[in-house]
Amino acid sequence: MRTILVTGANRGIGLEFVRQLARRKPTPAFIFATCRSPDNAHDLRAVADTHTNVKVLKIDMQNESTYGPVVEAVSNMVGENGLNVLINNAGVYSKDGYEKVSREMLKDSFDINVIGPMRLTQAFLPILKQGARSSKVESFGVDRGAIINISSGFGSIASNDSGGNAGYRESKAALNMFSKGLSLDLKSEKILVLSQCPGWVSTRMGGPHASRTPESSVSDMLTIFAMCSEEHTGCYLRNHIPLEVLPY
Ligand SMILES: NC(=O)c1ccc[n+]([C@@H]2O[C@H](COP(=O)([O-])OP(=O)(O)OC[C@H]3O[C@@H](n4cnc5c(N)ncnc54)[C@H](OP(=O)(O)O)[C@@H]3O)[C@@H](O)[C@H]2O)c1
Repeated sequence: MRTILVTGANRGIGLEFVRQLARRKPTPAFIFATCRSPDNAHDLRAVADTHTNVKVLKIDMQNESTYGPVVEAVSNMVGENGLNVLINNAGVYSKDGYEKVSREMLKDSFDINVIGPMRLTQAFLPILKQGARSSKVESFGVDRGAIINISSGFGSIASNDSGGNAGYRESKAALNMFSKGLSLDLKSEKILVLSQCPGWVSTRMGGPHASRTPESSVSDMLTIFAMCSEEHTGCYLRNHIPLEVLPY
């Protein structure tokens, strides 16, 4: 992975992606760590202070006017090498069941978890294609080009046996459909597209009783990304090694 952009990088899984990518060998040329409030992203800024390849940029998934300036800034920094990997990580969770969920929560879930990743990917596609085309790697993989949508096991229709989480489940199922459809559209470009479940992770979203730490979740996801090739594009993956495909 040479140049990577992560959304929701100020805390939780997104911040841990940036921390681990910054320490990774070979060192990525750029890690674009985006969040909606860079001024308040103290933990993220601390990583950027010690790793000059980490660039903190503002993207609010719900405000498309924040996308263009970042596409431009990233383009200027990466030049002809383009962008290698986009990790659509930012997301919101809803606990409510179907009897209680508000219209506002449903709208936010779809706006942040689906429409945002779709529109942001669209905005970055020209430089993602440039990244893949300019790569020396000719086969599918994160070293050529990848779009990774951080989904959730809750997005699986086939394995939903407990209901609830109205809006969250539906939005992640829709995100999965986006991954599948986009993988077909980008097959000719040999750009890998994945829907990746991070597992149940102890972040503000996952809570303190989660079974995994952000450190182990992200470390395993980075191993999984590196293991993926053409046969995995469009797949929905559990955070498990060896690779385990979830049913949509
Ligand atoms: N933790 C788990 O157990 C778990 C399980 C399955 C899937 N996931 C998925 O993993 C991803 C990361 O979750 P997490 O556990 O790290 O959650 P988290 O700690 O709650 O972090 C969520 C991140 O998303 C950002 N975000 C929310 N709305 C945004 C917006 N409009 N624009 C930009 N950023 C926005 C937050 O930024 P602010 O600080 O500005 O709000 C924060 O950086 C999510 O997609 C989530 O659905 C998590």
